[in-house]
Amino acid sequence: MPKSALIIGITGQDGSYLSELLLAKGYTVHGVVRRSSSFNTARINHIYADPHESGRRLLLHYGDLTDSTGLRRVLEVSVPDEIYNLGAQSHVKVSFENPEYTADSVAVGTLRLLDCMRDHIQHTGRNVRFYQAGSSEMFGAAKPPQNEETPFYPRSPYAVSKVAAHWYALNYREAYNFFVSNGILFNHESPRRGETFVTRKITRAVGRIKAGLQKKLYLGNLDARRDWGFAGDYVEAMWMMLQHDEPGDFVVATGEAYSVRQFLDEAFGHAGLDWNQYVEIDPQYFRPTEVDYLLGDPSKARKAFGWKPRTPFRELVRMMVDSDVQLALEEKYMAGRTAAGVASSR
Ligand code: NAP
Ligand code: GDD
Repeated sequence: MPKSALIIGITGQDGSYLSELLLAKGYTVHGVVRRSSSFNTARINHIYADPHESGRRLLLHYGDLTDSTGLRRVLEVSVPDEIYNLGAQSHVKVSFENPEYTADSVAVGTLRLLDCMRDHIQHTGRNVRFYQAGSSEMFGAAKPPQNEETPFYPRSPYAVSKVAAHWYALNYREAYNFFVSNGILFNHESPRRGETFVTRKITRAVGRIKAGLQKKLYLGNLDARRDWGFAGDYVEAMWMMLQHDEPGDFVVATGEAYSVRQFLDEAFGHAGLDWNQYVEIDPQYFRPTEVDYLLGDPSKARKAFGWKPRTPFRELVRMMVDSDVQLALEEKYMAGRTAAGVASSR
């Protein structure tokens, strides 16, 4: 029987890559989409199928992690074999500005979803497997390299909420013997990365500066070091975790770390530009408590189910720059057409 999966956070970076992966494997994919006054499905438009078409394998449902009644209903109609909880207010800096909402969606939202699953399993007797999108931010100030044995030391409301979600998930595994796995994923990026995360902010600026659409790039701490991988590789680890014999907690990382400064070198350098001429520091991008150095050790995932990253740092940066250079050219072209349209209508 083809399997069915439910993805919370399907409209995000990871949700889009995971949907592609599961559809290619023959799954029926159900996704939870938040109601928004404008379209928020740009990342999954290419796999979207009209509800009037028969034989569709991607089905979208309105829902929100802050609304357990709706989550319960989505679970009843989707009857999933696997649940992937990728939904989150996922921006660390924003979590200092909206800590309560971050806790509600990330921590309590995970609890709501787990509890809906508990009732569903207990009423139907079905086997359902659950993936929780944990984060290397949970390690925060812990000394690198970090692995599954490293104690958490969260440094933001987002990270504290992810730690709570991690322990909720683990408790449901132990208390009810459910198949619940925590992925502890280090930073992963792609051309679909949200525009306010540092990598995409940089590559987007490279494209726009090249196209003459932007003159400066304002950033915060250039010394922070991150273990950056490619999102397309990381969603495979999520899926592999749920196919494994045993549930568990698994670090997913490349095992290499670079500073924001090194990312700038690589990204601007690939476009033939010197970032020192364009980048300025704006303290508004500093965080009240920073995470200085994340470097993951993914040995456990490699040994358990053979996962390893396939995209090296330089290839990742170049993929993102190339995509953003192209997007900026399209933006410039569209701006030119609009300006010409305004002029001819006068
Ligand atoms: P993302 O691009 O920010 O996507 C987040 C998704 O969650 C979006 O679909 C968003 O919907 C949805 N969402 C936000 N608030 C929600 C709510 N209250 N109820 C339901 N859905 C909600 O994040 P991502 O990079 O794909 O990351 C996926 C998950 O992995 C997140 O939980 C993130 O915290 C975690 N994570 C990410 C990384 C990373 O480096 N990317 C590393 C470790 C862990 P809208 O599209 O409507 O905003
Ligand atoms: N966003 C941002 N914007 N970050 C900046 C900037 C800037 O202008 N300037 C410097 N930085 C630094 C941040 O201070 C941080 O140390 C680093 O760049 C990375 O910031 P982000 O790209 O925002 O990612 P993050 O590491 O805080 O969080 C991401 O990765 C986590 C996994 O470790 C998010 O995707 C989280 O959701 C995820 O859990």
